[in-house]
Parts: sequence; C-alpha cells; structure tokens
Amino acid sequence: MHRLLRRQLRRLFGDSPTVPEQWQGFVDAVDQAYEQFDEDRNLLERSLDLSSQELMGATTENARLLEETQQARDDAEEANRTKSQFLANMSHELRTPLNAIIGYSEMLQEDAADLENAEFEEDLERINGAGKHLLGLINDVLDISKIEAGAMDIYLETFPIEPMVQDVATTMQTLVEKNSNTLEIDCPDSVGSIHADTTKIRQCLFNLLSNASKFTEQGTISLTVSRDTEDGREWISFAVGDTGIGMTEEQMGRLFEAFAQAEASTRRNYGGTGLGLAITRHFCEMMGGTVLVESEAGKGSKFTMKLPAIVNESLGTTAAD
Ligand SMILES: Nc1ncnc2c1ncn2[C@@H]1O[C@H](COP(=O)(O)OP(=O)(O)OP(=O)(O)O)[C@@H](O)[C@H]1O
Ligand SMILES: [Mg+2]
Repeated sequence: MHRLLRRQLRRLFGDSPTVPEQWQGFVDAVDQAYEQFDEDRNLLERSLDLSSQELMGATTENARLLEETQQARDDAEEANRTKSQFLANMSHELRTPLNAIIGYSEMLQEDAADLENAEFEEDLERINGAGKHLLGLINDVLDISKIEAGAMDIYLETFPIEPMVQDVATTMQTLVEKNSNTLEIDCPDSVGSIHADTTKIRQCLFNLLSNASKFTEQGTISLTVSRDTEDGREWISFAVGDTGIGMTEEQMGRLFEAFAQAEASTRRNYGGTGLGLAITRHFCEMMGGTVLVESEAGKGSKFTMKLPAIVNESLGTTAAD
C-alpha cells in the first residue's frame, strides 16, 4: 500500500487500521491512483531534468556565440582603425610631394608665359590640373579615413551666413560655367548667423555644388538658404537644386555610402570617386544635422543640408579652445 494512503488510514482508523469491507474497493482505487500519481511525477521530473539540461546547454552555446560575435566585431573594428590610420599616414605622405608638383608647375607656367612658350605653358597647365585633381582625391580619402577613425574634430564659431555663401558662389563660378550652367543664389539677410564649423559647411557646399555642376548641362543650379523653427529649435537649410540628369529611386539608395555612385558608368562618364556625399553627410551629422535628397530621373535633383542654427557645444571644440 502506498505510504501516503497508509498514513491517511492511520489517522482515520487508529494505529493498526482495519479497513471496513465496504470501503476496501474504494481504498484499492485510491491506492492505485497514488501509485499512478507517483509514476507520473517521476516521469515529469525526469523530463524536466532533461529540459533544464538542454536549456543549460543552449545557454552556454548562446554565451559562446555571443562571445565569438563580440570578438569578431572587435577584430573588425580594430582592422578598420588600422586601415584608417594607414590611409591617414599615406595621404599625408602623398600630399607633401604633390604640393611641390603643383607649386613648381605654377612657377614654370609663369616662366613659360614670360618666354612666350605656348606649348610648354599648355603642358604645364595639364600637369598642374592633374596635380590639383589628385590632391582633391587625396584630401577626400584623408577626410573619410579620419571620420572613420573617429579622429575628425569640429570647430564651432558664430559667423554671418550670407558672406560665406557669396564667397562659396564666387569660388564655384568657373566650375558652374564649365557645362554652360547658371548659378542662382537666394540667401536673404534674414537668415542671419549660424554657430557651426565654417570650413565644414563650405566643404559640404562645394561638394553639393560641384555635383550639381557635374551632372547638369546648360541648366540652372540654385543655392537657397532659409531659417525656420522646428520642435522649438532654429534650423538653417542650404538647398542645392539643379536641372540635370537626376536619379531614380533605386539610384538614390546608396548615394551617401563611401565610394558609392549611382551607376557603374558614372565614373567612366563623369569621373569622381563617390566620396563627396559620404563626407557631406558625416559632416552634417557631426554638427547634429542631416542631408536630404529629392530627385527625378531626367529632371533634376535637390540636396538639402539642414543644420541647427546653434550647433550643440558638446559636439565640437569652440574656436577659442
Ligand atoms: N546633383 C546630382 N545629380 C545627379 N546625380 C548625382 C548628383 N549628386 C550626386 N549624384 C550621384 O551620386 C553619386 C555620389 O556622389 P558623390 O559626390 O558622393 O560622388 P562623386 O561626385 O561621384 O565623386 P566625388 O564627389 O568623390 O568626386 C554620384 O556619382 C552620382 O551618381
Ligand atoms: Mg561629388
């Protein structure tokens, strides 16, 4: 008889229980139920035991996988930092001789002009142009590797927007006219000043305006600056529009990634390395802003940089630092 049943009977009928006959059938049934219960419980315990062992195994496996993933991520980040450091060093080494090539070719150009040697002058101009182009590429590679290595600083200062925009427009004029385009500037006095990194904003505007000039022919390029309030903060928008080749939705997908161009044929037809927009977006984000793009294939594009009118001090170093 099951020990629990025996205990119950003892409680009911005294120490040496004699079960009344009419109860016997019922007692046997209860005894069987107790046995069955024990058996079921054992079974349950065994399967619980097995499940918890499996669970422990799975947890250990998960922990191992997590550790492996973290290690792989650390390795990848370290490799990326090493690559960026290497590129930063290399770019620096390349810039020094290139500046010499650019400087000397300019001096020789002047000499050739004095000697009225037109043939030399043309060749020297080509050397100078190629040197400047290469320097531009190296500067971009240096920028992107500095950004990726987390070594790009921003310097904040307050400056009036309109003179800066006019200055950028003057610098870009030759490039705009190269493809017979016209540049329209709309920067009302009311946009006032901005507290941000002036060099970086200029560089972003150069990138956007040079893209607009490159991908537009006999068209109009516009630079529209405005100030508005959103979520209780003031923002300055710099919108660069063009009436050029435009892009499809699909082509717009990866534009802001480093070395990405809309199509494989872009490099062949228009040159470039696909770094301009990646750098522009990084710079805007470093200042707490964004770059937005709207475009229609065959019609034109509009890139809008939106920056806080007062960039948060914690994001950069002030000019006085
Ligand atoms: N205004 C535009 N109109 C049409 N396509 C554009 C325009 N601006 C950018 N794109 C597309 O986006 C791509 C990426 O632009 P990005 O400025 O990053 O690179 P890039 O101009 O090709 O090279 P880089 O700027 O490094 O000289 C371009 O190759 C082009 O396909
Ligand atoms: Mg570009």
